[in-house]
Amino acid sequence: MTTPASTVSAELLEELRSARFIESPYDVYRKLREAAPVAFVPLSEEFGHWWIADYATAADALKDSRFSKDVVARMHPDQVTPLDRSMLFRDPPAHTRLRELVSRSFTPRTIERLAPRIAELAEELLVPLDRDGGGDFMTQFALPLPVTVIAELLGVPEPDRERFREWSARLIGASDSTSHTQAVYDAAMEAEASIAQYFRDLIRERRHRPTGDLTSLLLEVHDAGDRLDEGELLGMLTLLLVAGHETTVNLLGNGFAALMAHPGEWERLRADPGLAESAVEEMLRYDAPVQRATFRWSPAEADVAGVRMGEGDAVAVVIGSANRDPAQFPDPDRFDISRAPNRHLAFGRGIHFCLGAPLARLEARLALAALTRHWPGATVGDGVVRRPNTAFRGFRRLPIRVRH
Ligand code: HEM
Repeated sequence: MTTPASTVSAELLEELRSARFIESPYDVYRKLREAAPVAFVPLSEEFGHWWIADYATAADALKDSRFSKDVVARMHPDQVTPLDRSMLFRDPPAHTRLRELVSRSFTPRTIERLAPRIAELAEELLVPLDRDGGGDFMTQFALPLPVTVIAELLGVPEPDRERFREWSARLIGASDSTSHTQAVYDAAMEAEASIAQYFRDLIRERRHRPTGDLTSLLLEVHDAGDRLDEGELLGMLTLLLVAGHETTVNLLGNGFAALMAHPGEWERLRADPGLAESAVEEMLRYDAPVQRATFRWSPAEADVAGVRMGEGDAVAVVIGSANRDPAQFPDPDRFDISRAPNRHLAFGRGIHFCLGAPLARLEARLALAALTRHWPGATVGDGVVRRPNTAFRGFRRLPIRVRH
């Protein structure tokens, strides 16, 4: 591997690999932005990629049609999985076709219909936490809320959901490219194969007995013609499932932790529930669940903010850093639930802008409504553990104590 001129320093590289980076990456991001906002990060002898850390270049790169997201074109056909054939990893026109097939199911209006069920779930989940004076916010609230919602949307029966949790966690283990090992990669591939097998069985069942869930609807599209082949259908279901598991969970966890660390903001929110909408946007900006967008690939000799990239170079837009760029957000390290404007990049930009954004926003808003109503006082207890993943930022454990 040849090393490009704009490469991160050895000190910064070491910081990127440290345990401290998992706890809080924001100081390292600041150093990156100040040293070289577009820099090559050589993660191993064979593999490295570009990080884009400043807001202006990041926002442009997410929309830049010179970059490709097509992984299939870069893989041996035997290695291509259903998820690789999902919209997240395709370019137009395939991307446009796949996205259109589900976009109607995710408009703000369609999603708003789920509000009563989401509010009911939030209330149910708070019962044991209230009764016990606290518990683990992640396993008892942040995780089951979005996981139940997406499982119900897709029609995955209750007894099967725990298995999905495990598969999904193993699948995203591979996305943390600061700790790439063959074992992690193999576990991810196995998990993906299990998810695909599960969905194959579910599809067979729904074909006999459609239920009106999203799986049945997509199956109708598939059966109606050649617009969605079997691999694409599996890819779509896997993508929706994984996206529903690994993102909103961390929005709720990271956001609630930020509110607990800023009691003044928690009080403001309790006093004025109308702030919930802008509070959710600030939660997304301040500690973004997806810290780095999925890879884009450079064309030959691309000039990106004055840096020359080579053909096929992998590029990671560092959303977590862009969201703290002082050139875009005044006083960026301040957590301000009424921040305006707040054009964060937590859901990406351009044609791959998060399809599930209306759902994630609704879930977070209703979660905040329930939490502020139930818990005038809550504090984070001992034993907080971050997940060891630098791409999907979240907590493994977030113990809380509740006062009524
Ligand atoms: C707080 C929660 C969420 C965050 C922060 C988030 C973040 C993102 C980001 C950053 C992207 C763009 C990736 C890129 O351009 O490389 C994306 C795409 C996507 N997200 Fe989300 N997401 C969230 C929740 C969800 C949910 C709940 C769903 C589905 C139920 C979902 C479905 C998708 C899909 C299907 C795409 C691909 C869209 C495309 O390629 O056109 N997301 N998400």
